[in-house]
Amino acid sequence: MRPGVDAGPFTMHIDVLTLFPGMFEGPFNQSMVKRAADRDVVKIVVRDFRQYAHDRHHTVDDYPFGGGTGMVLKPDAIFEAVEDTRRELGDQTCPAILLTPQGRVFNHRIAQELAQQKNLILICGHYEGVDERVREHLVTDEISIGDFVLTGGELAAMVVVDAVVRLLPNVLASEEAALDESYARGLLEYPQYTRPRVYRGWEVPEVLLSGNHQEIARWRREQAIIRTLQRRPDLLAGAALSNEEQTIVERIKSGRGFN
Ligand code: ADE
Repeated sequence: MRPGVDAGPFTMHIDVLTLFPGMFEGPFNQSMVKRAADRDVVKIVVRDFRQYAHDRHHTVDDYPFGGGTGMVLKPDAIFEAVEDTRRELGDQTCPAILLTPQGRVFNHRIAQELAQQKNLILICGHYEGVDERVREHLVTDEISIGDFVLTGGELAAMVVVDAVVRLLPNVLASEEAALDESYARGLLEYPQYTRPRVYRGWEVPEVLLSGNHQEIARWRREQAIIRTLQRRPDLLAGAALSNEEQTIVERIKSGRGFN
């Protein structure tokens, strides 16, 4: 039986098309994604698009025209699975995103963009690739989770779902959500410490124990900037910095430290 789509009070509906639905059982039934589903913030349906294949053997791949190694995913099952899903959702323009190393590289900004959608279809490619007509005439977007090649789009779809779902309302506690602010602004997170105060002789920075919230906030802003400059200077180019933060960047770059 094909999994149905309930017209419930969900904030977001995510449909994942895959040949390996079992891969999603663990990740989607634990932790934050489960919490979101339990709260009806998201409804996730994983469908095996092999069931949309027409022949007796449910064939979804075939040899590439022109020769070459490997198999190519045929267009028919993918087209029909997406069309069926859009019909069930009553949303003919629902975004259909192909997970592929050829896509635009996923980041926090794209996660925020996707979190605005009411419905989302994620298509997990496999084998040597998908028939080009899926790209040309069906999918609305292509996303890669990095410059490496996975054996299929499943793990990439899980990454996208996790990053998107945690941005939906009422999923994270407000303190957790606040941690995103720095990344959304294009900075890395400042260093965090917890008890014990001294571990193997390594001490927690004094300022964090001072109780002076203004000083602590200033130290954290500086640390976030230092860390970003050291590890991901490319992020700073697009960062939304306050005047104070801009001054800190210039001071550090000119070698005058940060006091
Ligand atoms: N499928 C295979 N490799 C991938 C990647 N890096 N990102 C998204 N989907 C993929």
